Order: sequence, then structure tokens, then C-alpha cells
Amino acid sequence: MRARPQVCEALLFALALQTGVCYGIKWLALSKTPAALALNQTQHCKQLEGLVSAQVQLCRSNLELMHTIVHAAREVTKACRRAFADMRWNCSSIELAPNYLLDLERGTRESAFVYALSAAAISHAIARACTSGDLPGCSCGPVPGEPPGPGNRWGGCADNLSYGLLMGAKFSDAPMKVKKTGSQANKLMRLHNSEVGRQALRASLEMKCKCHGVSGSCSIRTCWKGLQELRDVAADLKTRYLSATKVVHRPMGTRKHLVPKDLDIRPVKDSELVYLQSSPDFCMKNEKVGSHGTQDRQCNKTSNGSDSCDLMCCGRGYNPYTDRVVERCHCKYHWCCYVTCRRCERTVERYVCK
Ligand SMILES: *[C@@H]1O[C@H](CO)[C@@H](O)[C@H](O)[C@H]1NC(C)=O
Ligand SMILES: *[C@@H]1O[C@H](CO)[C@@H](O)[C@H](O)[C@H]1NC(C)=O
Ligand SMILES: *[C@@H]1O[C@H](CO)[C@@H](O)[C@H](O)[C@H]1NC(C)=O
Ligand SMILES: *[C@@H]1O[C@H](CO)[C@@H](O)[C@H](O)[C@H]1NC(C)=O
Ligand SMILES: *[C@@H]1O[C@H](CO)[C@@H](O)[C@H](O)[C@H]1NC(C)=O
Repeated sequence: MRARPQVCEALLFALALQTGVCYGIKWLALSKTPAALALNQTQHCKQLEGLVSAQVQLCRSNLELMHTIVHAAREVTKACRRAFADMRWNCSSIELAPNYLLDLERGTRESAFVYALSAAAISHAIARACTSGDLPGCSCGPVPGEPPGPGNRWGGCADNLSYGLLMGAKFSDAPMKVKKTGSQANKLMRLHNSEVGRQALRASLEMKCKCHGVSGSCSIRTCWKGLQELRDVAADLKTRYLSATKVVHRPMGTRKHLVPKDLDIRPVKDSELVYLQSSPDFCMKNEKVGSHGTQDRQCNKTSNGSDSCDLMCCGRGYNPYTDRVVERCHCKYHWCCYVTCRRCERTVERYVCK
């Protein structure tokens, strides 16, 4: 298992980034697309960073989607960093796109999360863009078949999830569909985790309602099916990250499949994230394994979770320092209708890992 990433890396250099062997989530580099690039002509597609040729083709034929996809790449970065802010691995390396370190290049649990989140985010962004009328090619989603419940009626504009899933999967799975060489196990892992991301997105579709009626009496509610915010989908995927399953690539029947390593009597579940390579504990800096270490990371002395000083600093201890925070204070309400506040400064004690 160890040899795979090196093979992959060597190919990257040897084939001068042409084959898409390890391209996977390099499209997240779109988050750095300069705002000055209008993206309204097909020749702009070549100027985008991190795309395999199939994605450049999709760009040419669906130019109107590209602003949404660039937006999705930015959202992935934000949601990942937010979801992992209290963890030793805090997703900061996602900003190195398209030149990731080994934490995201190999088949790790962390990369499993990022693939799932990326797949969810692109479909989320496209479905939402349909709703807001930003895309000429799609409209509101279908009216559900079931009745909306007493006092409710279907209305509004549903997120067109099926269109989002279709176009999102086409774009984000394209690197894994490139034939050529590259580890089959890695491709299967990436495709599986992307599907888990889309499943989490489907599960986030919920009924949203707006009240109507005489002076807000809410006697009638208009309801539609809308997606939760991406950060909520990311939180769901983080739970799956924490219980992800280590798998191996093994013959089962006539073909090789990913099967759980320790319990290889059951197939992998559609709902679980899977990974091929164990991650380091991310305590110490070690670039060879993609670990930044937690030295100088802030920790929380009163928390008992993953951001606690004990866990974050891996038992090395921590240094206190004082920080000044400026707040609004002594706020007063004046009739009618404004509030005045003063600015107060107070010092807080914070801690960073040794
Ligand atoms: C593309 O956008 C730029 C800047 O907004 C504009 O100047 C240019 O005319 C547009 N080109 C086309 C083909 O729409
Ligand atoms: C969106 O949903 C509608 C159903 O209201 C459907 O007819 C349409 O094909 C879907 N896709 C697009 C691209 O609009
Ligand atoms: C995330 O971790 C890196 C590496 O340990 C660190 O340099 C960075 O400051 C951290 N970012 C945040 C927001 O804590
Ligand atoms: C530290 O953790 C506690 C308990 O989880 C929480 O109430 C508090 O807001 C946290 N402090 C900081 C600075 O994040
Ligand atoms: C952490 O603290 C909360 C209450 O502050 C408690 O409910 C929880 O069980 C604690 N968790 C651990 C792992 O000790």
C-alpha cells in the first residue's frame, strides 16, 4: 500500500501533469480564479487551473455553469476549514490546491472527507443557482408527490437537486473517469466517497415553509423542498469522517472491490466514508506524511473535546498569553428607536500548544 502514492507522484512529474492520474480534487484550485476573468468565452476555459481535459470540455459546453463551480470551490475551502477548526488536522492544506501535500494526495481519511464535501458542494451550488435563476438551463425543482401536510401548500421554488447532482457529478467525477494508469483502488475510493457526499446532500433536502395569512397569523404556509446550508452537510460528513472505515482492494466475486479491512465479510455501505491509508496523528510536523503538527495552534483550556489543550497539544503542554478583545458594552436603548454602546476593552487569557 505504501508504494502507491510514490508511484502516483512519480507519474505526476514524469507525465508533466497531463494524464489526470492524481487529478481528483485539483479543480478546487478554481477557488483562486481571479475575479477579472469574465468566464464568458470558451477560450477562458484553458486558463482555469487544475482541470483535466474532460473538465475543460465540460467548461466549454456549459460555460454558464462555471461561475457557480468557481463559487463551489470557494465554498468547499470555507466549509472544510470551518468543520475542522477544532481538529489537529484543520484543513489548512486545502488552500495549497492544486499542489496538495500527501495528506490529501494519498487515500487518507482526510482526503475521503474532502472528496465527499467537494462532490456535495458542487451539486449544492448548482441546485441553488437553479433556484435563484442564475442558470438559463434549469428552473425550480419538481413539486413533491406527497401532500405537504395540513394547512400547508406546495409553492415557492424548490432546489433542482437532480440537475445539481447530474451536472455536479459529471464535473467532479471526471478526473476519476480518466482511463490511463493510476491506482484503481484510489479511483474506487474517490468515486465512492464522492457518492457518499452526494448522498449526504440528498439527505439534507428538507421541507421549508413560509407563513401567510392575516397579520402573520400563519393560517396558510407555503412550502418547498430546499437544501440545508453546506456547513450543515459538512457537519454531517464530519460525523462520517470520524467513523470512516478502512478498506482494502480485494477480489470479491469476479472483480476487485473495496471491502472493510477488519471485517471483510460485509460489503462497504453506501453511507460510509472509506479510506485506504491510515493518517499520522498530526501531532508533530512531518512533511513526508503531510502533517503540519500542532505547535503554536490555539487550544481551549476548558473544553474537553478535540480542541482541548490536552488533545490538541498531544500532551506536550501549552503556553498562555493574553489577548485584548474590543467589545460593545453598556448598551442603552433610546426612545425611539436607536441603541448606543460604548467600546470596552478586556484582556482574555489564551493558550497555544508548545
Ligand atoms: C465578457 O465580459 C466582459 C467583461 O464583463 C465584456 O467586456 C465582454 O464584452 C464579454 N464578452 C462576451 C462575448 O460577452
Ligand atoms: C428541474 O425541475 C423541473 C421540475 O419542476 C424539471 O422539469 C426539470 O427538468 C429539472 N431540470 C432542469 C434542468 O430544469
Ligand atoms: C491550522 O493549522 C496550521 C498548521 O498547524 C496552522 O499553521 C494554522 O494557523 C491553523 N489555522 C487555524 C485557523 O487554526
Ligand atoms: C472553550 O470551550 C468551552 C467549552 O466547550 C466553550 O464554552 C468556550 O466558548 C471555548 N472557548 C473558546 C475561546 O473557544
Ligand atoms: C464533555 O463535557 C460535557 C459537558 O460539559 C459532557 O456532557 C461530556 O460527556 C464530556 N465529554 C467527555 C468525553 O468527557
